[in-house]
Amino acid sequence: MYGILINGAGWVARQHAAAYGKRSDCQIVAINDVSESRAALLAKEMGLDNVGIYTDLSKALCHSDVEIVSVCTPQHLHCENVLQIAQAGKQIVIEKPAATRLDDLYKMREVVKKNGVKTVVSFVLRWNPLLVMLKKMLADGVFGTPYYVEVDYMSYNGSWWGGWNDGRTLEQGVSASLVGGCHAIDAARWLGTTQPNQAALPVEVYALAGGCRKGKTREFNPTKNIWIDNAPPMEYDGLEVILVKFDNGVQAKICVNAECVMPYRFPIRIFGDKGTAVDNRIWSEYFSLQKDWIEIPTILPDSSDVSHHPFQAEIDHFIDCVAKNMESHCNLEDAVRSHEIVFAALDCYKNNVPVKLAQ
Ligand SMILES: NC(=O)c1ccc[n+]([C@@H]2O[C@H](COP(=O)([O-])OP(=O)(O)OC[C@H]3O[C@@H](n4cnc5c(N)ncnc54)[C@H](O)[C@@H]3O)[C@@H](O)[C@H]2O)c1
Repeated sequence: MYGILINGAGWVARQHAAAYGKRSDCQIVAINDVSESRAALLAKEMGLDNVGIYTDLSKALCHSDVEIVSVCTPQHLHCENVLQIAQAGKQIVIEKPAATRLDDLYKMREVVKKNGVKTVVSFVLRWNPLLVMLKKMLADGVFGTPYYVEVDYMSYNGSWWGGWNDGRTLEQGVSASLVGGCHAIDAARWLGTTQPNQAALPVEVYALAGGCRKGKTREFNPTKNIWIDNAPPMEYDGLEVILVKFDNGVQAKICVNAECVMPYRFPIRIFGDKGTAVDNRIWSEYFSLQKDWIEIPTILPDSSDVSHHPFQAEIDHFIDCVAKNMESHCNLEDAVRSHEIVFAALDCYKNNVPVKLAQ
């Protein structure tokens, strides 16, 4: 039985808690939040009577039987949380983005390695059924050798999200790519290679930023299809177009658009020398007599609601990694490579020259 500590008891934490709750080998033993009442509310919602409620992470980490910690606090706290948890020798599920500064990510990577703890970063769309199938088709050669991948994050981030007060600022949200678009960046890496259980490694990045929403106080709410006046403004550009070259020669274009006046979408295109995927529609030399696109009925990554995201599959994968003493393909070390693209794009906005990434 793995004892679980949930750190940060907000929106996404409910999905982590539900996923652990469905497993017979996991038990939530403690919940930590800066607000005691929020921690207690999550325990109540989950029907947990015998659970430690804390407002101090160092005390929560001393609760008996804690082995795995889910870091569900706002992103600017992830670094200090992960350093503390790794030093306590616990295994860690880290919500994305894993940190808000590149040097913090490198520090976290070093401390995690030194303490020999397992990690998974919640690039949860790697477990979305469409991405699982596309990844398998890539490995099976359905598209041949891929040469170009496009993944777009089309959202309208705003105060409909509880984390927006932090997420909209330059200091704590940093950029549209870091706050949400990193899902698309990571998906482009994941689908940019035919290697199973691996994501492509970025070697060069060029990016442009723009859009029309930065600093504006009129805000769209896509969940209710209404407009709000006098909303606190987003402090960074809402549109980023990012080009990436991977070490296997595959190129990617990621459009992060956090100001789309429309329902959320996450379009995917894979082009290979033997076939193409356009979301869940496939054209391939493999199906040589096909007369029209083959459409796979499945769950697409087309919702920003956390209850739609495959957290169960991510948590099941991580428990399996812990049980088998295996590293996750989406551990902190790998996830740093997705974050490096985010920060290289920020360099491009400042200096307007392509950024080469260290191998
Ligand atoms: N993987 C995904 O798809 C996904 C989806 C949503 C959110 N997230 C990420 O999860 C993180 C949390 O987002 P959320 O939407 O749940 O936000 P939220 O605001 O709903 O929840 C954050 C919780 O952290 C608590 N908190 C704040 N400061 C704290 C502190 N110092 N110590 C302990 N607790 C503290 C808050 O009281 C709150 O309960 C963010 O980094 C966000 O980007 C990821």
